[in-house]
Amino acid sequence: MPATIVLGAQWGDEGKGKVTDVFAENADLVVRYQGGNNAGHTIVIGAERFALSLIPSGVMYPACTPVIASGCVIDPKVLLAEIAMLTERGVDPSGLRISSNAHLIMPYHRKLDAVMERYLGRQMIGTTKKGIGPAYTDKYSRQGIRIQDLFDPKIFRDKLDVVLADKNKLLTRVYNQLPMDAEEIATEYLSYAEALLPFVTDTSLLIWEAIETKQTVLFEGAQGTLLDIDHGTYPFVTSSSPTAGGALTGSGIGPKAIDRVVGVAKAYISRVGTGPFPTELSDEIGETMVTVGGEFGTVTGRRRRCGWLDLVALRYSARVNSLTQIFLTKIDILSEFDTLQVAVAYSSLGETYTELPRQQRVLYNCTPIYEELPGWKSDITGVRRFADLPKEAQQYIEFIEERTGVPIGWVSVGPERQQVLTRSS
Ligand code: GDP
Ligand code: IMO
Ligand code: MG
Repeated sequence: MPATIVLGAQWGDEGKGKVTDVFAENADLVVRYQGGNNAGHTIVIGAERFALSLIPSGVMYPACTPVIASGCVIDPKVLLAEIAMLTERGVDPSGLRISSNAHLIMPYHRKLDAVMERYLGRQMIGTTKKGIGPAYTDKYSRQGIRIQDLFDPKIFRDKLDVVLADKNKLLTRVYNQLPMDAEEIATEYLSYAEALLPFVTDTSLLIWEAIETKQTVLFEGAQGTLLDIDHGTYPFVTSSSPTAGGALTGSGIGPKAIDRVVGVAKAYISRVGTGPFPTELSDEIGETMVTVGGEFGTVTGRRRRCGWLDLVALRYSARVNSLTQIFLTKIDILSEFDTLQVAVAYSSLGETYTELPRQQRVLYNCTPIYEELPGWKSDITGVRRFADLPKEAQQYIEFIEERTGVPIGWVSVGPERQQVLTRSS
């Protein structure tokens, strides 16, 4: 299968890093198509744990080319630090390719992200404060500065002067902050140009050539479907398109190129930041999910909110992404519980919802309708074949397949590469 999109089917942190790493063994290219260093993708290889925020997980394999495509926003300082971290730890990132069209996260984006959140008060989104929203805002208002501008100091400075005049008004007059200095920013950013230059290319062409020559290409989504700017729980979303459509626009390829869309879903569900979350558990069970599941943000260290699997949301995700398979992760964490609840619908003011409610107000106030399934209460982290799973775990997996209509091709039973059961590919 030459081209596969791997994306988050929930609110992020589903285990996309691990899944991409598992698939990347046989991939020629792994492409990040949206987002920036708001993402935190964890890869565990034996005793080593890598947290990647920008560089695609394929970097771990020398034969695989990691690509950061034009739909991404790049904080160059963070990217260079990630390159240095990998080099230091014996991973060679020299094959990395970066789109010249990707947008830069600038210092005023980070600043605005932080102050805008403060001003929102109780309405805050709980962003990662990495400047993601303001960087995409500038991209869409055509005030963005791109990677390619770093290689033309005059153009870079001209663009910066125009946009910074605007930002400084906003910072000083609206948000009561000190203005930022163009010279200082230009000096810092232009100093990154030389180190970045060898990586920069036309990534859309690179991906097209790989697909044309039947190479194996993986598209690694960041965040998740319910954080999508169009299809997520707006405004409590990120500012890009993690859904399958975003893989196309963010990489510069067409839909015919894609063979598979694999949705990564946790066997329960988590969310970082604010926003509606029907199956959220604020009891002991939720606490166990956080502690046993290690549900703390890879990037910000924030505690993730946890709850039972939500099949209304997962069916929605299957639909908006045309999922061909689900990769179910962290089912080992459910070994803790005697019985398992799975939300199959919501109820609100006497009405039953089997699809995500059109009005988000309903999503805030609804009560999940659960079906109860038996737990298995045994360690499954060493299991490698579906048939060897306890029958209750098999039943749980089959229940999800039946209710979503999407086959579960793989099941992950632990953070490591080899802790995967393959059912089909
Ligand atoms: P991503 O953002 O989707 O890549 O996910 P994160 O890396 O932020 O969070 C997933 C966490 O779960 C990481 O710490 C992974 O190492 C871990 N993980 C992934 N799959 C499994 C699994 O099947 N079982 C367990 N116990 N941990 C897993
Ligand atoms: P990965 O790729 C989970 C959340 C933030 C916040 C909202 C907007 O590791 O799954 P942003 O900084 O993007 O403007 O924040 O989106 N968020 C994530 N939640 N996993 C992520 O990435 C996330 N990236 C952003 O917590 O609610
Ligand atoms: Mg993450």
